[in-house]
Amino acid sequence: MPQSPSPARKAAVDLLDQILEQGRPLSEGRGLDRLSAAEKATCRRLVVETLRALERVDRVLQAHMRKKPTPRVRNILRLGGYEILSGGAAHGVVSDYVDIAAKGKLTQKSKGLVNAVLRKVADGDGADWTKARFPRLPKWLREPLVMAWGAQSVANMERVHFEGAPLDITVKEDAHGWAEKLGAELLPTGSLRLRESGQVSALPGFADGAWWVQDAAAALPVKLLGDVQGLSVLDMCAAPGGKTMQLAAAGANVTALDISEQRLKRVAENLTRTGLKADLVQGNAMEHEGLYDAILLDAPCSATGTIRRHPDLPHVHEGEKISELIGLQESMLNYALTLLKPGGRLVFATCSLLPDEGECHIDDVLANTPDVTIVPPTADWVEEAWRSEEGGLRLRPDFWAPKGGMDGFYMACLQKA
Ligand SMILES: C[S@@+](CC[C@H](N)C(=O)[O-])C[C@H]1O[C@@H](n2cnc3c(N)ncnc32)[C@H](O)[C@@H]1O
Repeated sequence: MPQSPSPARKAAVDLLDQILEQGRPLSEGRGLDRLSAAEKATCRRLVVETLRALERVDRVLQAHMRKKPTPRVRNILRLGGYEILSGGAAHGVVSDYVDIAAKGKLTQKSKGLVNAVLRKVADGDGADWTKARFPRLPKWLREPLVMAWGAQSVANMERVHFEGAPLDITVKEDAHGWAEKLGAELLPTGSLRLRESGQVSALPGFADGAWWVQDAAAALPVKLLGDVQGLSVLDMCAAPGGKTMQLAAAGANVTALDISEQRLKRVAENLTRTGLKADLVQGNAMEHEGLYDAILLDAPCSATGTIRRHPDLPHVHEGEKISELIGLQESMLNYALTLLKPGGRLVFATCSLLPDEGECHIDDVLANTPDVTIVPPTADWVEEAWRSEEGGLRLRPDFWAPKGGMDGFYMACLQKA
């Protein structure tokens, strides 16, 4: 007999509460320790999918309620509503979420409401839900994005955010062979893409370290550096190490620096699994010393390009830290240039959709640093629509939409005279 209520659903209510009521990111969510690996996966999937569809779910729920329920009851209804609307077996879903309400101190009085509303959702015309507009980004982000990219592009991004993201993989070598073994699509940029992945660690080649998970757009900054074989390369913000592994696999002598000891452990684990090598250094990039042939600065940023994979992001902050991040990116970029040998190349990248965290930094450096020029990419995988005016690449989630999209990213390659 399955447990009632299901531990995964109960934990999903707790997580949704933490994200929406306390502003805690999903990656830092608490209360999953007692769940099995399969329950954790179910719990995370429920939360991620409910967040992606939140505006649509709320519209359906509102039609069946006269008063706004308390936040926790509302989150129970959101998860239950999402499960029913996306095709879950209504009877089991309703009884489990009613049980969750009945067993919670703060929600037991509302179990009748949960039962009534979820039954109405189950009896309703499911088609209504797919007719509603794609959930919109919050105002703090939507407004600057509409200014930068136009209303239609932002609507396209919202559609892609709703649809979620495939599993992208970077292989150490033999992309064709691994595409065949995994049944994956080989993308024009060299990444592999799987639409349905199941448990990643169970896929062939994972345990042997033949590949790692990395969004197709996130794999491009290292490619922009060109041939790094035998060069000394500083990966200035390295953790969790996707780009460090690419650099090491391309034959660079990599120094992987990160301020976070915790996150640096993930770089070490990733290198061990893949059998690749890099010197790991824990420290502040702004105090690091040395002189390198090439530098990759994948700077801390708003991460607004990764909302497909992290739909909690727009709910856990309101852009309040972005101006601080913009200042840090500017200082890091100027400092990084002092660690670059004459003639050396530096790639600056952020997984942000905001020009203030991308194009604007490069415009400033080019205007204020006479010995630095930009190297526009010449690789055959570069699509013309990706090129930005100043000579970098602007990638957006709505690019490659029929193929499954890509993370939003900005990247540019600079060269010192
Ligand atoms: C965008 S993530 C890097 C992702 C990584 N390059 C990858 O591909 O896996 C930014 C990283 O910058 C690190 N960071 C933030 N401030 C830093 C600083 N002052 N010095 C060094 N690292 C810093 C964070 O700990 C975080 O791991």
